[in-house]
Amino acid sequence: MTRLSTGIEDFDKLIEGGIPEGFLVALTGEPGTGKTIFSISFIYEGLKEGDIGIYVTTEESRDSIIKQAKQFNMNLEDYLDKKLIIIDALMKEKEDPWSINEVTPEEMVQKVIEAKQKLGYGRARLTIDSISAFFLDKPAMARKISYYIKRVLYKWKFTILITSQYAITTSQAFGFGVEHVADGIIRFRRVIKDGMLHRYVNIEKMRQTNHDKYVWEIDIKPGKGLVLLGKLNERREDYSLPRKTMEHIRKSNQDEI
Ligand SMILES: Nc1ncnc2c1ncn2[C@@H]1O[C@H](COP(=O)(O)OP(=O)(O)OP(=O)(O)O)[C@@H](O)[C@H]1O
Ligand SMILES: [Mg+2]
Repeated sequence: MTRLSTGIEDFDKLIEGGIPEGFLVALTGEPGTGKTIFSISFIYEGLKEGDIGIYVTTEESRDSIIKQAKQFNMNLEDYLDKKLIIIDALMKEKEDPWSINEVTPEEMVQKVIEAKQKLGYGRARLTIDSISAFFLDKPAMARKISYYIKRVLYKWKFTILITSQYAITTSQAFGFGVEHVADGIIRFRRVIKDGMLHRYVNIEKMRQTNHDKYVWEIDIKPGKGLVLLGKLNERREDYSLPRKTMEHIRKSNQDEI
């Protein structure tokens, strides 16, 4: 089986060397936990290896992705329109051929296929960041939409990362069902401990892989990107929300019902 490096060497070791070719993997987690930076690394690593890269961005502009990448010494501009297309679903500029106007799964998939045709043959990586934008007003459609995307794009031999947001109040992935369709789930989280923001990652699922089961603390470093700091050998309470906060959330949810 061919495995694709994520561009984060230490992370690759947790999944037997990388993401199996052809997989659709969900990156899920709260805001600011590293999903976009992980996605950029994955695409950039592909470009360095000669792969085609297609990046669909829905919540940040193309420029924002390019600027963010540059801060980690990943120069996406070198590959733009040759090996890389960034499909911008935010700016919706009419004269931009790689922007989408209607944020629908059908239009997005169509653009991705056009981009692939433009870039030509060869192994291809695709990131959809984030998938949540396609079912914002209809979270119940999440599974159906994810399945549609997987089914249609499968033929095009992409290895796909999709990011999805996590509702901190309920600890439920926004748009139930993405995770069942996905071949793998990489879960990002954050917590305030000792007055400081800590971020973590763990692999919740990776089909056909004897993956690591630990929670790892991560950091995002200028010039470097996402790095693994170490394993978390502590109790669950240490990385979930404080008990009092959870009680408060549960109570206010009940009040609403
Ligand atoms: N140059 C940098 N140096 C250090 N840390 C940075 C740098 N740029 C961004 N970060 C950190 O990365 C975070 C953003 O990470 P990222 O965009 O991957 O989050 P995300 O999980 O995609 O969030 P969202 O769901 O909101 O899109 C910032 O909030 C900041 O903490
Ligand atoms: Mg993001």
